[in-house]
Amino acid sequence: MTLDALPFSPACLRNQEPILTLLRRWIPPAARVLEVGSGSGQHAIHMARHLPGVHWQPSERNESLAGLAGRIALEGQAGLAPGARVAPPVALDVTDAQWPAGPFDAVFTANTLHIMPATAVPHLLAGSARVLSADGLLLIYGPFRYGERHTAASNGDFDLHLRQRDPAMGVRDAETLQAEAAPLGLHLQADAAMPANNRLLVFQKSNEGRGQ
Ligand SMILES: C[S@@+](CC[C@H](N)C(=O)[O-])C[C@H]1O[C@@H](n2cnc3c(N)ncnc32)[C@H](O)[C@@H]1O
Repeated sequence: MTLDALPFSPACLRNQEPILTLLRRWIPPAARVLEVGSGSGQHAIHMARHLPGVHWQPSERNESLAGLAGRIALEGQAGLAPGARVAPPVALDVTDAQWPAGPFDAVFTANTLHIMPATAVPHLLAGSARVLSADGLLLIYGPFRYGERHTAASNGDFDLHLRQRDPAMGVRDAETLQAEAAPLGLHLQADAAMPANNRLLVFQKSNEGRGQ
């Protein structure tokens, strides 16, 4: 596969730098990171080029794994930050009973919650809680609603577009997510405003609720 033939996300290109800025702040040096729904693999490559020592494990659903594997094979070795590694991607649907073994210091996912069915979101939270190390972080980037209200009219239009395409898709409610995460021991530590009306939600695992 050549670079031109690989899946490419313009949104990734726009948001990778603001995301990196926050990951530098949150992710400890030499962290083991599981990325859920890596898509084109651009985030995996970008973060591994800029986070020294990071061990980045990309993942995707089976049907989208080939393109991701193609990018990691082409770009996953050269130009990485000192000590950083990108592992060959693994198949992962968040509803799978079996997740990569971990433990991971962080689980990162970008723009996946509004694409996966609403019923899959609790699986994302539970799977993350299972594979995170003690004090591990779950970082979720994307658009969110608050009190069932969108943060911008454009997010409302996007939500409508998604729900028309598939009623199971849609922009998720941040408070609902927080309420579902807490019993799993994942507690919201930060909710950062990002460009283009997106957010980065940072949950941290604590001892209460572990093992669920
Ligand atoms: C809009 S793309 C985002 C891809 C990439 N993270 C990015 O920021 O460009 C949505 C991604 O969510 C993934 N996805 C949807 N449902 C999923 C599920 N049940 N489990 C894991 N990933 C899922 C899709 O395969 C797709 O790669």
